[in-house]
Order: sequence, then structure tokens, then C-alpha cells
Amino acid sequence: MQKVTNKLQKLIESGDWPAVSRNRGVDVFKERFDLNQLRGFIHDRIQKNGTVRILEIGFGVGKLIWDFRILFPEAELFALNKTRDRYIKSNEDLKMTALYYNYFTEDELESIKLPEIYFQDCQALPFESNYFDVVISLTTLEYAKRKEKALQEIWRVLNIGGKAYVEIDSIESCFKDCPDFLKSDSPRFIIYDNHNQIVPLTTFLKNPGITEFNIGTSLKRGKLDLIMCKNISNDLNLNLEFIEDKSKNLTIMSHQHNDSFKWLWGYQSIYKIRENTTC
Ligand SMILES: C[S@@+](CC[C@H](N)C(=O)[O-])C[C@H]1O[C@@H](n2cnc3c(N)ncnc32)[C@H](O)[C@@H]1O
Repeated sequence: MQKVTNKLQKLIESGDWPAVSRNRGVDVFKERFDLNQLRGFIHDRIQKNGTVRILEIGFGVGKLIWDFRILFPEAELFALNKTRDRYIKSNEDLKMTALYYNYFTEDELESIKLPEIYFQDCQALPFESNYFDVVISLTTLEYAKRKEKALQEIWRVLNIGGKAYVEIDSIESCFKDCPDFLKSDSPRFIIYDNHNQIVPLTTFLKNPGITEFNIGTSLKRGKLDLIMCKNISNDLNLNLEFIEDKSKNLTIMSHQHNDSFKWLWGYQSIYKIRENTTC
């Protein structure tokens, strides 16, 4: 514990505790999703099954997963980041976040069950199928290269009736002056049909082959979110062909190019609908 407290102290003293972009919490979640409905769902699951499993994909420094710890003390919590970063390298490091936001004291933390953390790309989730009741993700899928795989994986790990609340893209106001390659309803998730026309993601999800899967969209505060409710056990197959040579790492571009690209971030994934799919 002393090691964690010292590490936090050093980060604070050097002004290196991450800004809001890595520590969104339940306050942000509830601006866009129905927290009361989720609360009811979680309590029902606990009553019925004695437990509930919740996964956060892209937990940053873990503020949201700690909020969930407080809201749902009985829940089994899991959280996944792509890589270890300088803030969170282990389960123990998560204690820094709880201390920083005064969620728990050092003494309390000795007896609090920590969320279990994993470091892996969300396009291949290290969990068995039908494992989670709830999956949540804020400002993460924008960074994923193979977004279709990530969505298919989220569907796979949800159990029947399980729910996923997933931010899939951010449509910043600065996009109004953006280069053409970003002009879309989901600028980082571009889908072309067989006539080389862009199909908005919201339209694509209404494709006859996909509507049997309960996946809704919501656009609030410049964020395009997906709300999935696993209504059938079939694997989700979005039938998209990834076009690697047209896709772009926007974060890298922002470092390499001139000022006009400096606000770019994330990964723009480009797809073509496979031939046998209608739209
Ligand atoms: C901008 S931070 C957002 C953190 C937090 N969700 C929030 O909203 O404050 C993006 C997070 O996503 C994680 N991430 C990025 N790409 C990922 C990927 N392909 N698979 C899993 N996690 C990823 C990063 O490790 C980082 O924690």
C-alpha cells in the first residue's frame, strides 16, 4: 500500500495525474445512458443469480469502474485497457484512483474487492462467451483499429439479456471544417457499400441481416453510442471487410502533420460491406 501511496504522491507533485480524458466517471455515463434503468437491471440480476458481472473496456485510470464499485458493492467488476501505461500497471495501482478521488481511505481499501484488470486489445477479449451481464465503454472504441471485431466480441461475451453501453464515435464540433475523409456520421467507422457510397453506421445497423440483433444507437453531446441488448445467442457477424490500406491512425497523423491535423485522435477504420450483404 505504501508503494501505491508514494506513486500517487509523486504523480500529484509532478502535476502528472491525467486530465479528464482518462478519468471520466459515472457523471459522464449518466448524461448519455439511463443509469436508473441500469441500476434496476443490475439489482434484478443480483436477486436472480446472486451476482452480476460488469466489464469496462478502456478504463483509463479507472474512475468509472470505482464509481460502479460504490454503486454496486456486490458486483464482480472487470476492466480492460489495451496496454499498461505509466499510471496503471497492476491491480494495486487502481488504489491510487480510489485514493485520489477520496472514494476510500487506505484502511478501507485493505478490505475492498478490487476490480480485476486485464491488458489486451478489445478486438479479442480474454473472456469466455456469455460471461458478462453488463459491458460499458467510454471514449475507447474510437482508438480501436478493428471496430467490427470489438463489437462482435462485446456481443459474444454478453450473456442472454445482458446489456452493453458503448461509445462508438465522437463527432467533435471542429469536424465541420474537417478534411473530406472525416465527413461522416461516424468519422472513425466508415462503411462503403458495393457502389462505393458511404453508408452511415446507423443505417448499416438497420440492415436486414443485423436487425435481428438488438442494437440501438443514440447521439447525444456529440457522441454516437450503441446500446446492445443480447436478445439472441447467435454470433454477431457484421459482414464487413476491413480495408487496411485506406484506414488511418489519426493519433499518429496528428503528431506527424501540420497544425490543421493536430486535433485528430483515434483510428479511422474503413470497411466495405461484403458482397452477399444487402443494405
Ligand atoms: C481516452 S482513454 C478513455 C478512458 C476512460 N474510458 C475515459 O473515458 O476517461 C482510452 C482508453 O482506452 C484504452 N484503449 C485504447 N485502445 C484500446 C483497445 N484497442 N482495446 C482496449 N483498450 C483500448 C486505453 O488504454 C485508454 O485507457
